[in-house]
This record gives sequence, structure tokens and C-alpha cells, in this order.
Amino acid sequence: MSLKAHQPTGNTYAETPTYVQIETTILCNAKCWFCPQNNTLRQPNYMEEAVWKKIIDDTRGIGVTYRPFLLNEPFFDKRMPQIMRYIRQDPTARIEFNSNGSVITPKLADTVLEIGVDEIRFSVDGFTRETFDESRGLSYDNVYHNVEYFLKAARESDRKTYTEVRMIRFPGTEKEQQDFVAFWEQKGPGKVLLTDLYRYPWEGQTEALNLPCIKVTDEMFFYVDGTATLCCWDAEGRQIVGDVKKESVLDIWNGKELARCRGHLDRGQRDQLELCKRCDAYAGVDFSQWKPPAGEVEPAPKKKMAEG
Ligand SMILES: C[S@@+](CC[C@H](N)C(=O)[O-])C[C@H]1O[C@@H](n2cnc3c(N)ncnc32)[C@H](O)[C@@H]1O
Ligand code: SF4
Repeated sequence: MSLKAHQPTGNTYAETPTYVQIETTILCNAKCWFCPQNNTLRQPNYMEEAVWKKIIDDTRGIGVTYRPFLLNEPFFDKRMPQIMRYIRQDPTARIEFNSNGSVITPKLADTVLEIGVDEIRFSVDGFTRETFDESRGLSYDNVYHNVEYFLKAARESDRKTYTEVRMIRFPGTEKEQQDFVAFWEQKGPGKVLLTDLYRYPWEGQTEALNLPCIKVTDEMFFYVDGTATLCCWDAEGRQIVGDVKKESVLDIWNGKELARCRGHLDRGQRDQLELCKRCDAYAGVDFSQWKPPAGEVEPAPKKKMAEG
């Protein structure tokens, strides 16, 4: 979710996605005030096995990086080792996680490392107990213990696992951020990162920012019910682009609705998309070199009216 400051000239879309995010459960044990997970009403609580298997089967052999989570805690789903093993049947596949570190006990860490994970980013978000408790609502001791264990075990493992520990730059925590970096650097992760606090779309924005979007070029996002959304910031399903229960992953990727969304975004028409018309991502990016595509976007098919 990094917002890069450069001068983009246009988006290109490959025939297959590079990243596929799968919300295998909608549940999360944390209570982060800055994350819309707490308000989401999506169902069912767990993705049906046939659905996550279909997403993986539909994308085998094409070098996808799977992220088996979206707005949830991946290890809250007890099936995660089984899901990882299923992904691992494809030698071209990669696996990445973001985790709050609370459920991944040393025992589970050993299993996860044995199956193989390519990247794992721990969202710790606080060095003092006060900041941590306020931001996450999890046990500080438990998370620190689990993450320290994972980093050590990953270093000692024969497999290569990239690890990261992150903290959001909450206002007023500048000194603590430095202490956080110093502490975690000693523990030897691949990187210790301070990230920006962002606003999801529809969190108080009042007008459309008609800029292109450079976020949605190579990623797909599947909700727990098997529908796909345009963007991982779509917390409430405002821009559905397909349903894997009815079509294949690659048909969604190359389908009309995603083409329509890309068409509007590439022309800087965020106001044409319900989700994007209240999103301020990339507000600081210089789009002066951007070349919008020629022509017009094919309109969305009219919704059938109920008869009678
Ligand atoms: C939605 S969480 C899901 C994965 C997992 N539960 C976790 O905590 O890492 C994915 C990442 O988004 C970050 N995040 C969520 N809301 C954010 C916001 N408003 N600003 C900045 N980062 C945010 C979290 O800290 C986490 O690193
Ligand atoms: S403009 Fe739309 S697609 Fe781009 S980041 Fe915002 S919500 Fe996501």
C-alpha cells in the first residue's frame, strides 16, 4: 500500500495478475481504531473451501504471489497451514502475509516456516504499551514475544524468508518511533519500517479528486464470499468487479467491469466510480507527465429492473 512520489506516465496491465489477495476469513482479533475491519458486515465468517481452492486452481503455474488475507488477521484462520500447503503445490507461487503477530505462536511459526513463506510483515504499531494498547487492543507481551521468536526462527531456518516489522507514524509518537526502530533493528528483521497513516475512501472525504490511480495495476482482491473488488481499500464492497463462484479468476481480470474501472481511472475520472469518488490516494503525486488513453470508456451495462 505504499504511495510512491514520482512522475508516472501511464498504467500498463499484464494478462495475468501478479498478486492475488484472498480474504479466507473476515475475522480479526485486534481492535485497531484506524482500520475499517471492525465495521465490516461481510459474510460468511470463513471462505468456503471450494472457493479458496478455485481461486488458487484458476491461477496455478503463472507465478502469482498469494496474500491469503485482506481486511483480517490471516492466522486467525486455523486452516492457514492447509491453505499454504495447497498454494505450495504450485512451484511458481509465492506466499506473503501481513500479520498482527498475536496468533502466530512459536509452534505455529515453526509450521509456517516449515511450509515456507516468502515474505511476512508484522504490524506492531507501538513501542510503548500505551501506544500499542491504544492502537491495537492486543496483548503487548504476547505480540512482542511471538514476533521476536518468528524473527529468530526465520534467521535460523534453511529457507529464505523476508521479514519486516512495521509501525504506523501516529501523530505525537516521533520519539517512540526512533526507539521502535532501534529495538527491532537489533532483532535482525529484513527491514524495520515506519509507514504513513492513511484514510480509506469514504472516511470524511467530501468531493472527488479526479486524478489517475496507480494502485490497481497488478493486484486482485477476493472477499470472503468469493466476489472480487477493484481495490484493497474498498472496505464495504462499493466496486465489485466479479464473482469467482460464477467465472474464472482470469476472466474477471480481463473482464468488462475491470476494463471499465481501469478506463475511468486512467482518464482521471474517479468521479465515475462510486468507490473512487471519495478516495484521496496519490493526492501528492505529480501527474503532469501522465498520458490518458484515447477514446471513451464503455458504459456499465444497465441493471435489470424488477418486473411487475
Ligand atoms: C488491514 S491489515 C490486515 C493484516 C493483519 N491483520 C495486520 O494487522 O497486519 C493490513 C495492514 O494495513 C495496515 N493499516 C490498516 N489501516 C491502516 C491505516 N488507516 N493507515 C495505515 N495503515 C493501515 C495495518 O497496520 C496492516 O499493516
Ligand atoms: S482511486 Fe480507487 S482504486 Fe485507486 S486507491 Fe483509491 S479507491 Fe483504490
